[in-house]
Amino acid sequence: MISPVSNRPRTSRVFVSLSAAIFLFICFVGRRHMHELPIEVIEQHVVKQSGGAYRIPKGALPSVNLVVAATSNEDYSWAKNDLKVPGMVVVPYIADNMSAPYHPQMNKGHEAMMYHQYFYDFYDNLPDISILVHSQSHSWHVDQLLDQSMIFSLNHLDLREVQQRQFLNLRVTWGFGCMAGAINTTRANEESGVLPEQKEMQEAFRANFNLYDIPEILATPCCSQIAVTKERILSVPKEQYKHHIDWLLNTPLEDAISGRTWEHMWQYLFLQKAIDCPLEHKAYCRLYHICFGGREQYDEFIELQQGAQKLDQELSKINEFEEHWEEYGKEKEDAEENGEKNEDVKGAIEVEKKANSKMKIKLQRELASIREAIRIRKEIAV
Ligand SMILES: *[C@@H]1O[C@H](CO)[C@@H](O)[C@H](O)[C@H]1NC(C)=O
Ligand SMILES: *[C@@H]1O[C@H](CO)[C@@H](O)[C@H](O)[C@H]1NC(C)=O
Repeated sequence: MISPVSNRPRTSRVFVSLSAAIFLFICFVGRRHMHELPIEVIEQHVVKQSGGAYRIPKGALPSVNLVVAATSNEDYSWAKNDLKVPGMVVVPYIADNMSAPYHPQMNKGHEAMMYHQYFYDFYDNLPDISILVHSQSHSWHVDQLLDQSMIFSLNHLDLREVQQRQFLNLRVTWGFGCMAGAINTTRANEESGVLPEQKEMQEAFRANFNLYDIPEILATPCCSQIAVTKERILSVPKEQYKHHIDWLLNTPLEDAISGRTWEHMWQYLFLQKAIDCPLEHKAYCRLYHICFGGREQYDEFIELQQGAQKLDQELSKINEFEEHWEEYGKEKEDAEENGEKNEDVKGAIEVEKKANSKMKIKLQRELASIREAIRIRKEIAV
């Protein structure tokens, strides 16, 4: 008897066993390969950006505390009503109410005191991420591109990016705090109107970190609204938060100044970095998924915004001129009464008036088209 298998042509037998071998190979090696890939690589969330995509891991959502630094007459109800961050717990610290569930030892040092008190109080009970903000839902402290709205900011904030960077400033733009707004700690004896805390920074930094050699430049976007992971908070010993609290309690500096010195020290506390100023267009894209494509497109957007601002200023000058038109005409007529004929003066004023309203229409048209360009670019980016 001849078995059916040996009856088959030789090529077919070879083909079958080869296919089986390849199949087994793919199953075994392929699976092993899959198993070796960390879960973060398999489950990714892709963010668009020019020159490729940028990936952040998916997975279970991190737990979040939103710490709101407030005084008892401030309304922070937006934090409870308007935010869409899943599972976020609001922890209000009330500066001036010692009966409130969460409060500092003393109303001193503004938000810095309350943030340190939170790190101290919650040290053994921290969520994955703590976000620390002021009580206002809208203020200039929040970037224009984020509608100056903390509600918009937090609803768009990518918590994975917070986990990846470990500590970050919710403000993106460099205007205050980075570049020209950075602190030069060697300027301890110079008064500075725009940076009144600069001359105190050297002392403040030394006292808080017990260091003699301190960084010359401290730079991070302004305004002390930050997000930080549990790991970073725990990387600082609990007693150190107490030390910062004690410094704020005991410093003779005014509250506004001592509070502001901390605007320039959070990045050092959590990252041991003196300068932490991520590129604006990248930070917007990664943190809030507002992506213009690349640096050039972002710069173009900023230029359009500045152009609109300039036109706005010119228009308001023209409007003011029109509003005071009557007085201006009269003044001119009076001044020239004795010289030229009154009719000539009146004629000249009429010409000026016409030129003015022509210019106004031109500027209004330009402004409208720039605003439209801004609107479209923003709509694509956000
Ligand atoms: C202080 O906090 C307590 C406890 O939450 C509250 O009952 C009281 O009304 C607060 N006082 C003021 C002045 O807001
Ligand atoms: C900091 O200020 C000092 C004193 O004015 C100056 O000599 C130095 O160049 C400044 N440092 C930087 C990095 O700008």
